[in-house]
Amino acid sequence: MKIFKFLCILSLGTFILSRCNHSDELSGSLAKKVIEQTFNIPLAIPSMMDATQASIEAKSSSIIVNGSNISTLGYGGASILGPTLRIQQGATLNLLFSNQLNEATNIHWHGLVAPPLQDGYPTDVTKPGGTFNYKFKVNDRPGTYWYHPHPDMSTASQAYRGLAGFFLITSPEERALNLPEGQYDIPLVVQDKGLTNGLTYNPNNDDRTIGLFGESILVNGTMGPFLDVATRTYRLRLLNGSNARIYNFSLSNGAKFNLIGTDGGLIDSPKEMSSVLLSPGERADILVNFGSIAMDSSVFLVSNTFSGAYAQGYQMFKLMKFTVKKVETDPFTMPSILMPVEKLTQSESIATRKFSIGHDGMGGMGHNGMSHGGTAGVVMHPLDGKFFDPNRRDEVVRAGTIEIWEFDNSIGTETHPMHLHGLQFQVLKRTGGRAMLEPWELGWKDTVLAFPGEKVSIIIRFPDNKGKFVFHCHNLEHEDAGMMLNFEIQ
Ligand code: C2O
Ligand code: CU
Ligand code: CU
Repeated sequence: MKIFKFLCILSLGTFILSRCNHSDELSGSLAKKVIEQTFNIPLAIPSMMDATQASIEAKSSSIIVNGSNISTLGYGGASILGPTLRIQQGATLNLLFSNQLNEATNIHWHGLVAPPLQDGYPTDVTKPGGTFNYKFKVNDRPGTYWYHPHPDMSTASQAYRGLAGFFLITSPEERALNLPEGQYDIPLVVQDKGLTNGLTYNPNNDDRTIGLFGESILVNGTMGPFLDVATRTYRLRLLNGSNARIYNFSLSNGAKFNLIGTDGGLIDSPKEMSSVLLSPGERADILVNFGSIAMDSSVFLVSNTFSGAYAQGYQMFKLMKFTVKKVETDPFTMPSILMPVEKLTQSESIATRKFSIGHDGMGGMGHNGMSHGGTAGVVMHPLDGKFFDPNRRDEVVRAGTIEIWEFDNSIGTETHPMHLHGLQFQVLKRTGGRAMLEPWELGWKDTVLAFPGEKVSIIIRFPDNKGKFVFHCHNLEHEDAGMMLNFEIQ
């Protein structure tokens, strides 16, 4: 393995991008700008499927965007994305999967406490033409989860070309809260795609460095979507299903909304806020009241600018349009209590593990560009100085014990959304950069964002699922370029 190091001049905490004094690859690149649409296409809502007796295939398909046919991948007959799988807490997921792609794939249940052999480990794949029966009990808290492929080094490519879907868990306790449901409960997966040459996955070295960004925003696979709404409260389940782009979700009129859920389901009580920043993999369940919007007026879901992420956050752009088309009395009353969230405390932790994610694994300062495998100029991303190897056991932990894991991006120049499989954790603290926990980070989480300059600690109780899982950066280009390690629960 050959390592090239590049020296960067860091300008922490400013809008000024760090510049590398090396010309042919890496850094200094900015996320592709978003080209806004006219928002005249009805928002697609994925079909619902009962997860206790489901059967889906992964297949190539196509969609029409601006009059041209674009090749895509989809699950369960959808031309892009897949059905929303629904299950009651405590029931058993039973899904027959068939791979009708011409490449190996699998399904990962993002956010669920799934057994190791069911969780879409990167080398547990189904060959083209093959089938696999996913079957396990779903005890996770009611909320918004998702599924997507996870084959080693092809996760980014397959998810980007269209493979992903929602996984929703409900319970009698959740239903007793009388949250908006049916047509008032809308899952929204936001993804940016580059559509100028069709939907092909072909990252260049800039893309491999900062992640792949597209100029077109799709919500539920619809480019330029609108949704007609009534003057009442809606539950919007926001999922950032992008490869690399971060969204600072807000409403164009600056209105406040209530956060009711995070990655690991409902939080203890609704929290009012006017923006929520989600990196790839993260979810937020929010309640939006359109009651004060005049008939035929519109409000947009937008991504506001933000600072601290060197390559992105400079542009404000619209994601979708809501137009009030119906006056209705809102039957909804905001519950003061949602669902108890047990708090894990530092004193229960039996070990602290520290992981360098600031590309300093090989020593040296700042941003190290790396190449390996004899392919000169192919960008790699280390996690704690290592690249993914399915044959290694990087961390060994004990079922039922509590640990603190610290992701250190203090000398890094890139954003890294760190994700652990097969469990939910809590964010304990953040030093450097924002130097605080965001209000949407207080519930159960499975993905946590570290900006350049930040050190983020999480607290984990390992579930009683013995076996090997991965943890990785959910910037999918980083993940596929090695930024993934194993942990084994014993
Ligand atoms: Cu959605 Cu391994 O991740
Ligand atoms: Cu996951
Ligand atoms: Cu990363």
